[in-house]
Amino acid sequence: MSGIPHDHYEPKTNAEKWLHSRLPIVGLLYDTIMIPTPKNLNWMWIWGIVLTFCLVLQIATGIVLAMHYTPHVDMAFASIEHIMRNVNGGHFIRYLHMNGASLFFVAVYLHIFRGLYYGSYKAPREITWIIGMLIYLAMMGTAFMGYVLPWGQMSFWGATVITGLFGAIPFIGESIQTWLLGGPAVGNATLNRFFSLHYLLPFVIAALVALHIWAFHTTGNNNPTGIDVRRTSKAEADKDTVSFWPYFVIKDLFAMAVILVVFFAVVGFMPNYLGHPDNYIEANALSTPAHIVPEWYFLPFYAILRAFTSDVWVVMFASWITGGIVDAKFFGVLAMFGAIAVMALAPWLDTSSVRSGRYRPMFKWWFWLLAIDFVVLMWVGAMPAEPPYSTISLIASAYWFAYFLVILPLLGVIEKPAAQPATIEEDFDAHYGKAETPAE
Ligand code: HEM
Repeated sequence: MSGIPHDHYEPKTNAEKWLHSRLPIVGLLYDTIMIPTPKNLNWMWIWGIVLTFCLVLQIATGIVLAMHYTPHVDMAFASIEHIMRNVNGGHFIRYLHMNGASLFFVAVYLHIFRGLYYGSYKAPREITWIIGMLIYLAMMGTAFMGYVLPWGQMSFWGATVITGLFGAIPFIGESIQTWLLGGPAVGNATLNRFFSLHYLLPFVIAALVALHIWAFHTTGNNNPTGIDVRRTSKAEADKDTVSFWPYFVIKDLFAMAVILVVFFAVVGFMPNYLGHPDNYIEANALSTPAHIVPEWYFLPFYAILRAFTSDVWVVMFASWITGGIVDAKFFGVLAMFGAIAVMALAPWLDTSSVRSGRYRPMFKWWFWLLAIDFVVLMWVGAMPAEPPYSTISLIASAYWFAYFLVILPLLGVIEKPAAQPATIEEDFDAHYGKAETPAE
């Protein structure tokens, strides 16, 4: 597919020409921010910018926190209290970083579900999607290790439970677990390597984001109709698009302003609302908390992890067929990673020729059921693993897999799509009215 035709940077002055012939960086920036963007993008296309903002915020606040934090089991908890009480503005920087992580995940989930609804994962954007999934995995790893650093009760016990999952891998699990922890249990070596990796991973994410942006700039953005921008000539493309600068920059800045009002209200008035009070108790290997609950953004996958207990028939079957190698714990781990893997495979599991959910009458219902399913999983993930929650987790987990593995492939075959507009321009005019042609 050829790119969308548009104007390119032309160096004018001698200095510009001098630089351009040696390092065409201004041209690269120009082409990036002047990229033709479908003019019908709705408010669900703001989350990419919000995510970029979150990444910058987390790196900036994290670097300051690292200046005062001590990654040692005897001092980590106290160094956080020191940041909160003694460092100038320390409590504010810490609350920005803590709640910044939550905003990051709110944005990423909305960004992912936007992609799932409008079929942004479908050809030719598979690579954008796969890189997105890698970013998401790296975000989960970073957030998990970051939560261990304050060395509170939830840090310690969360790390113990989650690294324990690797111990469930048959034969080599225990060696992997010891290797990850740097010893037989969560201790000083663990805290140190988690700090090191927690600092490193955001820069890996930044590199992945650059690839992500490169990929969707190559294919062009998707849009709510899922229809391609016309590319036969620049005149045609101009009818479907406007340049990113200034139109979408202004729109995104407005959205950012609204989001920041809510974000600062949380940071200022209820900074610990999303956290667990037990993390203000220093880690104690001799006292296990009554309920070990992960951060809210891990709950849906935590629910899937716990859903498959040894009395579930698929688990019994897997155990029987593998001669007991796959037990309930290992099955849970496979299910948790499998839940993300099936989502990553969506571009190949969705057989429909229509991209956007807007024109897919049956798909819509299943999609919204998936969105509700995700919220239900988040809720049961926070509940004790006992009836009725265990049954609800199992049904909700089964639906997650059924959506990707059965419903998406089947719908493409049985569904009769609704009529789509012929062009993006037509959709835009239908929503906003046809623009007056400016007087010559
Ligand atoms: C740090 C995390 C991320 C950043 C900074 C980021 C950034 C962006 C930006 C700026 C856009 C274009 C504007 C928009 O659609 O909002 C975009 C598009 C896209 N992102 Fe992400 N993204 C991130 C994570 C993800 C994840 C986890 C996925 C899911 C797998 C994903 C999938 C996509 C897809 C499919 C598009 C194309 C949509 C289109 O072409 O309109 N992204 N991303």
